[in-house]
Amino acid sequence: MGNVFVFDHPLIQHKLTYIRDKNTGTKEFRELVDEVAMLMAFEITRDLPVKEVNVETPVTTAPSKVLAGKKLGLVPILRAGLGMVDGVRKLIPAAKVGHVGLYRDPETFKPVEYYVKLPNDIEERELIVIDPMLATGGSANDAIAALKKRGGKNIRLMCLIAAPEGVEVIKEAHPDVDIYLAAMDERLDDHGYIIPGLGDAGDRLFGTK
Ligand code: PRP
Ligand code: URA
Repeated sequence: MGNVFVFDHPLIQHKLTYIRDKNTGTKEFRELVDEVAMLMAFEITRDLPVKEVNVETPVTTAPSKVLAGKKLGLVPILRAGLGMVDGVRKLIPAAKVGHVGLYRDPETFKPVEYYVKLPNDIEERELIVIDPMLATGGSANDAIAALKKRGGKNIRLMCLIAAPEGVEVIKEAHPDVDIYLAAMDERLDDHGYIIPGLGDAGDRLFGTK
Protein backbone atom coordinates (compact mmCIF):
# COMPACT_ATOMS: atom_id res chain seq x y z
CA MET A 1 0.00 0.00 0.00
CA GLY A 2 1.01 3.66 -0.17
CA ASN A 3 1.54 3.28 -3.92
CA VAL A 4 0.89 5.98 -6.51
CA PHE A 5 -0.59 4.90 -9.85
CA VAL A 6 -0.77 7.33 -12.79
CA PHE A 7 -3.03 6.02 -15.55
CA ASP A 8 -1.47 6.69 -18.93
CA HIS A 9 -4.27 5.11 -20.95
CA PRO A 10 -4.59 7.07 -24.21
CA LEU A 11 -8.31 7.75 -23.73
CA ILE A 12 -7.73 9.13 -20.23
CA GLN A 13 -4.85 11.32 -21.42
CA HIS A 14 -6.77 12.56 -24.47
CA LYS A 15 -9.81 13.54 -22.44
CA LEU A 16 -7.67 15.10 -19.72
CA THR A 17 -6.16 17.46 -22.31
CA TYR A 18 -9.63 18.88 -23.05
CA ILE A 19 -10.47 19.00 -19.34
CA ARG A 20 -7.38 21.18 -18.82
CA ASP A 21 -8.20 23.45 -21.78
CA LYS A 22 -9.46 26.82 -20.54
CA ASN A 23 -11.75 27.05 -23.59
CA THR A 24 -13.70 23.93 -22.59
CA GLY A 25 -17.13 25.05 -21.33
CA THR A 26 -19.01 23.77 -18.29
CA LYS A 27 -21.15 21.17 -20.08
CA GLU A 28 -18.26 19.56 -21.93
CA PHE A 29 -16.01 19.80 -18.86
CA ARG A 30 -18.59 17.93 -16.77
CA GLU A 31 -19.04 15.25 -19.43
CA LEU A 32 -15.30 14.73 -19.81
CA VAL A 33 -14.74 14.48 -16.05
CA ASP A 34 -17.55 11.93 -15.90
CA GLU A 35 -15.95 9.88 -18.70
CA VAL A 36 -12.46 9.98 -17.21
CA ALA A 37 -13.85 8.97 -13.81
CA MET A 38 -15.47 5.94 -15.46
CA LEU A 39 -12.25 4.98 -17.24
CA MET A 40 -10.27 5.37 -14.01
CA ALA A 41 -12.81 3.22 -12.16
CA PHE A 42 -12.21 0.49 -14.73
CA GLU A 43 -8.49 0.55 -13.89
CA ILE A 44 -8.93 0.91 -10.12
CA THR A 45 -11.23 -2.11 -9.87
CA ARG A 46 -8.78 -4.38 -11.68
CA ASP A 47 -7.92 -6.23 -8.44
CA LEU A 48 -11.49 -6.87 -7.22
CA PRO A 49 -11.94 -10.53 -6.28
CA VAL A 50 -14.13 -12.75 -8.44
CA LYS A 51 -15.67 -16.15 -7.81
CA GLU A 52 -16.48 -19.03 -10.15
CA VAL A 53 -20.13 -19.61 -11.08
CA ASN A 54 -21.96 -21.57 -13.75
CA VAL A 55 -24.32 -19.68 -16.02
CA GLU A 56 -26.91 -21.21 -18.32
CA THR A 57 -26.47 -19.83 -21.81
CA PRO A 58 -29.18 -20.54 -24.41
CA VAL A 59 -26.96 -23.45 -25.52
CA THR A 60 -25.29 -24.99 -22.48
CA THR A 61 -23.72 -24.38 -19.08
CA ALA A 62 -20.72 -22.04 -19.07
CA PRO A 63 -18.20 -21.85 -16.24
CA SER A 64 -17.97 -18.14 -15.60
CA LYS A 65 -17.05 -15.45 -13.03
CA VAL A 66 -18.87 -12.80 -11.01
CA LEU A 67 -17.60 -10.25 -8.50
CA ALA A 68 -17.07 -11.96 -5.15
CA GLY A 69 -19.33 -9.52 -3.34
CA LYS A 70 -16.71 -7.16 -1.94
CA LYS A 71 -18.55 -4.18 -0.50
CA LEU A 72 -17.50 -0.84 -1.93
CA GLY A 73 -18.06 2.70 -0.74
CA LEU A 74 -17.48 5.87 -2.74
CA VAL A 75 -16.75 9.05 -0.80
CA PRO A 76 -16.65 12.21 -2.90
CA ILE A 77 -15.23 15.29 -1.23
CA LEU A 78 -17.81 18.06 -1.72
CA ARG A 79 -18.22 19.71 -3.89
CA ALA A 80 -15.88 18.97 -6.82
CA GLY A 81 -15.76 15.25 -6.00
CA LEU A 82 -19.42 15.05 -7.02
CA GLY A 83 -18.34 15.53 -10.63
CA MET A 84 -16.62 12.14 -10.63
CA VAL A 85 -19.11 10.00 -8.69
CA ASP A 86 -21.62 9.20 -11.42
CA GLY A 87 -18.86 8.05 -13.76
CA VAL A 88 -17.65 5.57 -11.15
CA ARG A 89 -21.19 4.47 -10.28
CA LYS A 90 -21.89 3.59 -13.90
CA LEU A 91 -19.42 0.74 -13.46
CA ILE A 92 -20.09 -0.03 -9.78
CA PRO A 93 -23.81 0.68 -9.28
CA ALA A 94 -24.00 -1.31 -6.03
CA ALA A 95 -21.46 0.90 -4.26
CA LYS A 96 -22.82 2.95 -1.38
CA VAL A 97 -21.99 6.67 -1.48
CA GLY A 98 -20.92 8.74 1.51
CA HIS A 99 -20.09 12.43 1.46
CA VAL A 100 -17.45 14.54 3.17
CA GLY A 101 -17.94 18.30 2.87
CA LEU A 102 -14.75 20.36 2.99
CA TYR A 103 -13.72 23.66 1.52
CA ARG A 104 -10.31 25.28 1.48
CA ASP A 105 -10.01 28.51 3.40
CA PRO A 106 -8.76 30.89 0.66
CA GLU A 107 -6.32 32.61 3.06
CA THR A 108 -4.78 29.63 4.86
CA PHE A 109 -5.53 26.89 2.24
CA LYS A 110 -6.57 24.77 5.27
CA PRO A 111 -9.67 22.60 4.81
CA VAL A 112 -12.79 23.40 6.81
CA GLU A 113 -15.14 20.44 7.43
CA TYR A 114 -18.85 21.22 7.17
CA TYR A 115 -20.56 17.87 6.45
CA VAL A 116 -19.94 14.15 6.93
CA LYS A 117 -22.50 11.45 6.06
CA LEU A 118 -21.23 7.92 5.52
CA PRO A 119 -22.66 4.41 5.10
CA ASN A 120 -23.02 2.93 8.61
CA ASP A 121 -20.91 -0.14 7.78
CA ILE A 122 -17.82 1.67 6.44
CA GLU A 123 -15.50 -0.60 8.42
CA GLU A 124 -16.56 -3.48 6.14
CA ARG A 125 -16.18 -1.55 2.90
CA GLU A 126 -13.39 -0.89 0.46
CA LEU A 127 -13.61 2.91 0.35
CA ILE A 128 -12.62 5.14 -2.57
CA VAL A 129 -12.21 8.82 -1.67
CA ILE A 130 -12.88 10.89 -4.78
CA ASP A 131 -11.71 14.42 -5.56
CA PRO A 132 -10.50 15.83 -8.89
CA MET A 133 -7.67 17.84 -7.29
CA LEU A 134 -4.95 16.85 -4.81
CA ALA A 135 -3.17 20.17 -4.28
CA THR A 136 -1.70 20.81 -0.81
CA GLY A 137 -3.26 17.51 0.23
CA GLY A 138 -5.08 19.14 3.15
CA SER A 139 -8.59 18.24 1.98
CA ALA A 140 -7.84 14.60 1.12
CA ASN A 141 -5.81 14.22 4.31
CA ASP A 142 -8.74 15.43 6.41
CA ALA A 143 -11.29 13.39 4.47
CA ILE A 144 -9.28 10.19 4.93
CA ALA A 145 -8.82 10.99 8.63
CA ALA A 146 -12.59 11.54 8.94
CA LEU A 147 -13.18 8.06 7.49
CA LYS A 148 -10.60 6.43 9.74
CA LYS A 149 -12.07 8.18 12.80
CA ARG A 150 -15.41 6.52 11.98
CA GLY A 151 -13.96 3.05 11.42
CA GLY A 152 -12.88 3.14 7.75
CA LYS A 153 -9.98 0.73 7.18
CA ASN A 154 -9.42 0.00 3.51
CA ILE A 155 -9.15 3.33 1.77
CA ARG A 156 -8.01 4.39 -1.70
CA LEU A 157 -7.76 7.92 -3.07
CA MET A 158 -8.77 8.75 -6.64
CA CYS A 159 -7.96 12.16 -8.18
CA LEU A 160 -7.64 13.55 -11.67
CA ILE A 161 -4.58 15.72 -11.05
CA ALA A 162 -2.14 15.89 -8.15
CA ALA A 163 0.74 18.12 -7.18
CA PRO A 164 3.80 16.32 -5.79
CA GLU A 165 3.34 18.29 -2.56
CA GLY A 166 -0.12 16.80 -2.00
CA VAL A 167 1.01 13.28 -2.81
CA GLU A 168 3.79 13.57 -0.23
CA VAL A 169 1.32 14.76 2.43
CA ILE A 170 -0.92 11.72 1.87
CA LYS A 171 1.98 9.27 1.71
CA GLU A 172 3.30 10.65 4.99
CA ALA A 173 -0.03 10.84 6.86
CA HIS A 174 -1.67 7.75 5.35
CA PRO A 175 0.94 5.27 4.12
CA ASP A 176 -1.78 2.62 3.94
CA VAL A 177 -3.67 4.51 1.21
CA ASP A 178 -3.00 3.89 -2.49
CA ILE A 179 -3.37 6.95 -4.74
CA TYR A 180 -4.78 6.75 -8.30
CA LEU A 181 -4.24 9.66 -10.68
CA ALA A 182 -4.75 10.66 -14.30
CA ALA A 183 -1.76 13.03 -14.04
CA MET A 184 0.96 14.14 -11.68
CA ASP A 185 1.64 17.83 -12.35
CA GLU A 186 4.67 20.01 -11.64
CA ARG A 187 3.98 22.02 -8.49
CA LEU A 188 1.71 24.40 -6.59
CA ASP A 189 1.62 28.15 -7.16
CA ASP A 190 1.56 30.74 -4.35
CA HIS A 191 -2.24 30.41 -4.11
CA GLY A 192 -2.14 26.64 -3.67
CA TYR A 193 -3.28 26.01 -7.24
CA ILE A 194 -1.84 23.14 -9.24
CA ILE A 195 0.48 24.15 -12.08
CA PRO A 196 -0.37 23.56 -14.92
CA GLY A 197 -3.57 21.99 -13.49
CA LEU A 198 -7.03 22.83 -14.75
CA GLY A 199 -7.99 25.83 -12.62
CA ASP A 200 -10.72 25.57 -9.99
CA ALA A 201 -12.38 22.18 -10.47
CA GLY A 202 -15.53 23.03 -8.51
CA ASP A 203 -16.10 26.30 -10.37
CA ARG A 204 -15.52 24.67 -13.76
CA LEU A 205 -17.89 21.79 -12.94
CA PHE A 206 -20.69 23.92 -11.59
CA GLY A 207 -20.24 27.14 -13.57
CA THR A 208 -19.49 29.32 -10.54
CA LYS A 209 -16.67 31.81 -10.08
C1 PRP B 1 -10.74 21.91 -4.16
C2 PRP B 1 -10.63 20.48 -4.63
C3 PRP B 1 -10.13 19.77 -3.40
C4 PRP B 1 -9.25 20.81 -2.78
C5 PRP B 1 -7.83 20.44 -3.09
O1 PRP B 1 -11.89 22.09 -3.44
O2 PRP B 1 -11.83 19.96 -5.12
O3 PRP B 1 -11.15 19.37 -2.51
O4 PRP B 1 -9.57 22.06 -3.39
O5 PRP B 1 -6.97 21.30 -2.45
P1 PRP B 1 -6.03 20.84 -1.27
O6 PRP B 1 -5.37 19.57 -1.68
O7 PRP B 1 -5.04 21.98 -1.17
O8 PRP B 1 -6.85 20.70 -0.03
P2 PRP B 1 -12.35 23.52 -2.87
O9 PRP B 1 -11.82 23.72 -1.50
O10 PRP B 1 -12.02 24.57 -3.89
O11 PRP B 1 -13.88 23.34 -2.68
P3 PRP B 1 -15.04 23.00 -3.74
O12 PRP B 1 -14.86 21.57 -4.14
O13 PRP B 1 -16.26 23.21 -2.94
O14 PRP B 1 -14.91 23.94 -4.92
N1 URA C 1 -8.40 23.17 -6.02
C1 URA C 1 -8.69 23.29 -7.32
O1 URA C 1 -9.87 23.23 -7.71
N2 URA C 1 -7.70 23.50 -8.19
C2 URA C 1 -6.41 23.57 -7.81
O2 URA C 1 -5.52 23.75 -8.67
C3 URA C 1 -6.12 23.44 -6.45
C4 URA C 1 -7.12 23.23 -5.57
